[in-house]
Amino acid sequence: MLTRRPPLGWNSWNTFGENISEDLIRETADAMVSTGLRDAGYEYVVIDDCWSLRRRGADGKITPDPKKFPSGMRALADYIHARGLKFGMYSDAGTKTCAGYPGSFEHEFTDAETFAEWGVDYLKYDFCNKPYLQNGPILYNRMAMALKSTGRDIVLSACNWGSDNVERWIRSHGAGIYRSTGDIWDSFVSIRDIARSQMDKIAYSGPGCYNDMDMLVCGMYSRGNVGGGERGGCTDLEYRTHFALWCLYQSPLMIGCDIRNLNEATLSLLKNRELLAIDQDEEARPPIFFCGNSESNVVGMFKHLSGGEYAFAFVNYSDRDAGLSCELFDIGLSSQAGYGFALRDIFTGEESGPFSDYFNVPRLAPHDIRVYRAKLVKM
Ligand code: GAL
Repeated sequence: MLTRRPPLGWNSWNTFGENISEDLIRETADAMVSTGLRDAGYEYVVIDDCWSLRRRGADGKITPDPKKFPSGMRALADYIHARGLKFGMYSDAGTKTCAGYPGSFEHEFTDAETFAEWGVDYLKYDFCNKPYLQNGPILYNRMAMALKSTGRDIVLSACNWGSDNVERWIRSHGAGIYRSTGDIWDSFVSIRDIARSQMDKIAYSGPGCYNDMDMLVCGMYSRGNVGGGERGGCTDLEYRTHFALWCLYQSPLMIGCDIRNLNEATLSLLKNRELLAIDQDEEARPPIFFCGNSESNVVGMFKHLSGGEYAFAFVNYSDRDAGLSCELFDIGLSSQAGYGFALRDIFTGEESGPFSDYFNVPRLAPHDIRVYRAKLVKM
């Protein structure tokens, strides 16, 4: 299925891990609507690992755990669809999922039929427990064909954690998005490492197959399943930088916090129209990294947008205040051109410029980001 834009939604893993149930999924679907997240564009409600029994049924099919999902998956899909949302599920290319539940290896076509019968619209497909001599690309291609053969539009969300040079082959093997990184955890170090790791991979991302930088940790505040506790958790400023980076790279945005209990800061961040418009920009051009220091502690990026506009962003990954002076010649604008960039800060609304030769970025606090929308105007 063609993913024209990066998919937006919610996934159970980051906060809930194995503690999932149909009540949780229903309440989450309701919260998607009541919080306005659905109307802001978030569409998929995705159940991650741990939804089934530990063994397949006598019919060879994966059986939902009746304690967690007593009404079954079809009823849950109907509930989600009735709210104008789409339903996502999870399986694995190996014999078992990462948490030890049945994987789809050598059951791909049966499982795809089962998912289609249940009304599934999106399948996250993990990579644990792959038999040693099996070839990963073939297994992803097999599931892509199995999903297609059902006749239902199902996004294949590949998840091999960026291994095996996946960016080079995954588009041709049928996935709609693919994890281009290892797992995120709820800490600024993880956010920074993922963002930096994409700098030489982001050019592979675009309509049809987007780089997936993993689910969002915004609003988790160290609660939940991915690196909570003392070493985890971020400030609102750090979550804002995280969300802005994922939007500038046009990653899928899968909310990972408990949306039944959101605070205002998280909700307004997740609904930030300017950032969502960048994430969903139809031209889908990756940023150019044109300015920064050699350690990439401070990075400046420039991005073409549709509608004749551009974005600039400057991020401070370091633990100290930082400034940056960027030469616009490094993106091709010479001072003789007679044009300059007029900027608008998307967080404060403040306008500046036009700038034609260089741009002095105002000082950035540690872990902060500035994002501007820009137009090229005659001087
Ligand atoms: C990992 C995957 C995570 C989550 C987990 C479930 O491999 O990267 O996003 O799905 O498995 O066990």
